[in-house]
Amino acid sequence: MAVRLAIVGATGLVGQTILRVLQERHFPVEELRLLASPRSSGQRLPFNGESIPVEPFAPERLRGVELSIWSAGAALSREYAWHVAQKDCIVVDNSSAWRHDERVPLVVPEVNPHTLSHHQGVIANPNCAAIQLVVVLAPIARRWGLGRVVVATYQSISGAGHKGIRQLQAELAGTASEQIVAPGGIAFTTAFHPLAVDGWSEEERKLIAETRRILELPTLPITATCVRLPTLGGHAEAVWVETLHPVSIAELREFLSQQPGIVLLDNPEAQLYPHPKTVAGHDEVFVGRLRLDDTVPAGFACWIVADNLRKGAATNAVQIAEHLFGYVPRAPTSLQLH
Ligand SMILES: NC(=O)c1ccc[n+]([C@@H]2O[C@H](COP(=O)([O-])OP(=O)(O)OC[C@H]3O[C@@H](n4cnc5c(N)ncnc54)[C@H](OP(=O)(O)O)[C@@H]3O)[C@@H](O)[C@H]2O)c1
Repeated sequence: MAVRLAIVGATGLVGQTILRVLQERHFPVEELRLLASPRSSGQRLPFNGESIPVEPFAPERLRGVELSIWSAGAALSREYAWHVAQKDCIVVDNSSAWRHDERVPLVVPEVNPHTLSHHQGVIANPNCAAIQLVVVLAPIARRWGLGRVVVATYQSISGAGHKGIRQLQAELAGTASEQIVAPGGIAFTTAFHPLAVDGWSEEERKLIAETRRILELPTLPITATCVRLPTLGGHAEAVWVETLHPVSIAELREFLSQQPGIVLLDNPEAQLYPHPKTVAGHDEVFVGRLRLDDTVPAGFACWIVADNLRKGAATNAVQIAEHLFGYVPRAPTSLQLH
């Protein structure tokens, strides 16, 4: 079984990471089409030893393609993804366009792979901050029950794509003429995603709504503050979890270290905890700083870190593709921690 595949948004930060992850996991590709905006016409990208041309996106270019993985923004997905998917080309979409459509499964393979069985052509990849959170919360919900969750995110500016990195680099070089992603600047400071008049950012709303949907806990009390940092990659989250049943840290450590997709890195004696630099290039979600929260009847605090371009986007999308086509990866996910 080899798949006729297209990457929409292939030249972007996520698109290029998808290409890398497909090769690392030896995803069986029969034919590969790379699509982006007309700005990228003429570019070529390497894949499995070949140099593949990048073509300007047009829905007709997906004819004959079995699977397309999209990371070209919500506007393009909203306009074309459903239509394309009805013509036999499955769409796995990284944008926010379809995540709240009941016809579209919102999937994290470690958490809710069963929802893939009723897809109607479009499958949504969740928000990067939500993916790493639910990989950890789902097993805790099953084992101890969730009472309330409070999250503060520390998100890399790479979450805003090439534009975010460009703004940071230009500010550091003193050449920033236009601040596109973070209007107040991002170098040596923090930034919020654009805030609505009620004080909430869309990122915070997405994190809350998507976490509830993926965990199938529509009334879960969960709140969040999302913050952008001038880091080049990796999202971190400080998370306070109130559980329904008492939890001990020893039990929690043992339990989390056995869960798929999770790496426990929590060694106070050696001062060893995950940071964005630790997780760069890794596909797993890292957890550390486990400690009891004695301000609630039952609960704990922790620190969750993942590579936003990998598990937060590309790896999750490729894992979805593997499930859809029944492919078991020959993954070289060696854990060489920096
Ligand atoms: N960055 C993250 O951590 C992250 C995580 C999860 C989800 N996502 C989502 O993934 C998507 C891409 O993010 P990114 O960080 O990769 O952004 P990016 O670096 O800005 O890349 C955007 C990609 O979309 C293409 N594109 C833009 N407009 C297009 C159009 N009208 N037609 C065809 N292609 C178009 C770009 O092509 P050109 O190069 O030709 O302009 C580029 O390939 C966004 O929806 C984002 O929300 C990002």
